[in-house]
Amino acid sequence: MDSAALRAVVVTGASAGIGEEFARQLAVSGHHLVLVARRLDRLEALASELKARHNIQALCIASDLARTDAAETLAAELEAKQVQVTGLVNNAGFGDRGSVQALPLQRQLDMIQVNVTSLVDLTWRLLPGLKAVPNSFVINVASTAAFQAGPNMAVYYASKAFVLSFSEALHEEVKGDGVAVSALCPGATDSEFASEANMTNTLLFKAGTMTPEAVVRKALDARRRAIVIPGLKNLLLVWMGKLSPRMITRRLAGWLQA
Ligand SMILES: NC(=O)c1ccc[n+]([C@@H]2O[C@H](COP(=O)([O-])OP(=O)(O)OC[C@H]3O[C@@H](n4cnc5c(N)ncnc54)[C@H](OP(=O)(O)O)[C@@H]3O)[C@@H](O)[C@H]2O)c1
Repeated sequence: MDSAALRAVVVTGASAGIGEEFARQLAVSGHHLVLVARRLDRLEALASELKARHNIQALCIASDLARTDAAETLAAELEAKQVQVTGLVNNAGFGDRGSVQALPLQRQLDMIQVNVTSLVDLTWRLLPGLKAVPNSFVINVASTAAFQAGPNMAVYYASKAFVLSFSEALHEEVKGDGVAVSALCPGATDSEFASEANMTNTLLFKAGTMTPEAVVRKALDARRRAIVIPGLKNLLLVWMGKLSPRMITRRLAGWLQA
């Protein structure tokens, strides 16, 4: 990478919700950005706003992370644009409510591709570059869903359990190389997620949500920790779940999103 390279943080799923907020808070602290999602118009509007308000550069890359070649294409594009990646926020993801049998198979396979496979693929491709810069970081957005099975959202919960386990292991593997890896585990958060996942009327979301601002502030402040659970309520729920039999926690999760 030559001296003309743009040193930037890559944020996937930056067109809405938590990812958009990551872009906003990273811009405030002066990070150059690469914004990734399918809705390029939204990314471009956000990039224009952040460039106007802060002294940063922001590139936009349209990518459908449900495609099996998405991470490879994205990594190639970053190299072609001479981006030196200093941080990676693997945030893009979605869920859907319904039984395994009722939800379309392709929707569930796409969920695994976006939430799990593309996340691993992109991390693997960008990790050598991250090891080459000091104080680099990877934030993988998991969920409090990662801590128990979730009847009626089986694949989503399993995908987040994977992200949590993968991130914890990677945290240990690369901390000696100066790369901080953390799994961010938000609970219900006010974004487009609930409507996309058909969850707006569930007890889980009716019981109250956090703002993306608060979630992201905690994630960035605590990014050297292996696991970050924003919000006292979410922390208590996770700890209560750890102390309860799995039979109880999975039934409770199913009840909260019935
Ligand atoms: N909100 C919650 O209650 C909550 C709780 C725990 C964890 N999370 C996790 O937080 C992360 C962000 O979710 P959010 O709450 O901010 O939801 P959101 O408002 O729906 O945003 C999701 C983002 O992911 C992107 N995305 C979805 N599918 C994609 C695809 N195939 N290719 C590329 N990008 C894709 C979307 O962009 P495009 O549609 O433009 O592609 C969007 O930018 C997700 O991993 C989610 O599982 C959310």
